[in-house]
Amino acid sequence: YCLICLVNIFLMKNVVVCVWGGQYEYILVEKRGEQSNVGFIQLNRPKALNALCDGLMLEMERALDAFEADADVGAIVITGSERAFAAGADIKEMQNRTFQECYGGNFLVHWNRVSTVKKPVIAAVNGFALGGGCELAMMCDIIYAGEKAQFGQPEILLGTIPGAGGTQRLTRAVGKSLAMELVLTGDRINAQEAKQSGLVSKIYPVDQLVSEAVKCGEKIAANSKLISTMAKEAVNAAFELTLAEGNRLEKRLFHATFATDDRKEGMTAFVEKRKAHFKDK
Ligand SMILES: *[C@@H]1O[C@H](CO)[C@@H](O)[C@H](O)[C@H]1NC(C)=O
Repeated sequence: YCLICLVNIFLMKNVVVCVWGGQYEYILVEKRGEQSNVGFIQLNRPKALNALCDGLMLEMERALDAFEADADVGAIVITGSERAFAAGADIKEMQNRTFQECYGGNFLVHWNRVSTVKKPVIAAVNGFALGGGCELAMMCDIIYAGEKAQFGQPEILLGTIPGAGGTQRLTRAVGKSLAMELVLTGDRINAQEAKQSGLVSKIYPVDQLVSEAVKCGEKIAANSKLISTMAKEAVNAAFELTLAEGNRLEKRLFHATFATDDRKEGMTAFVEKRKAHFKDK
C-alpha cells in the first residue's frame, strides 16, 4: 500500500507506481503538519547520497507542480537524509557528456523549477549540501541547517564550475569574498559558518531539524496563502531590481493586498482582538 494515497502500488522495473499518487522513484512525497498543509519532499537516493540525477529533478518538478496546484498546501519543505541533503549532481551521468549534448539539450534547465514556485519553500539541510545540492538549497526561500550540515561548491575540483545558480545565489547570500573562496577552492563551510555568513537562518540538532522545518512551514501556511505569495514575490524582487524599482513593486503589491478579503479579515480580527481566519481570497 502507498502511504500517501492508501491504495495499491505496483512494482514496475524498480519504479513504484502508485495508482493515484503518481510515480516517484527518487523522492518521497507526502503532506505533513497537523492540518496536512505542508508539502513534504524527501530526496531518496540513499546509496548515492542523494546525488541529483536528471530523473530526480524531473520528479521534483512534478511534485512541486502538484503542491503548487493543491489549495490546501501553504508551504513546502524539501529535505534529504541525515547524512546528505544532496551530495551534488550525478557525476557518472555527466562524465562522458559533450558540450554539444549539454548545450543542445539545455542541460540543467529544468533544475530551476524550485526557484519559480510561488509558495514558500524551506530547505531542511542535514549533512552534505554540495555542488548541485547547495544550489538546490539556495533555490529555496529559507534554509534551516542541522548541526552537522556542510555546504560547498566543489565543482572546480572536477574541472568545471557551478551550473545551477551557485556562483550567483551564493554570492548574493554570503558576499563576494566567501563565495569566491568556496567556488575557487572547493572548500566547505559548516552549519555555524553558514549561519554567520547569512546562508542559513537557523541551526537545529540533527534529529529535530525536519520537524522544526515543518513547524516553520505550518506557521507560514497558517497565514493567507495569497498574501504569502505577494510577500515572497516582493522579497525576491530585491534580488532582481534596483532599490527604487523594488520599492515601487512592493508598494504596488502592498496596495494590492487591500483588494483582498484576507487583508480585511486580518485587520478586523486584530481590532476585534481575535484570531484571523484567512480564506486565501
Ligand atoms: C565514459 O567513457 C569511458 C571510456 O572513455 C568509459 O570507461 C566509462 O565507463 C564511461 N562512463 C560512463 C558512465 O558511461
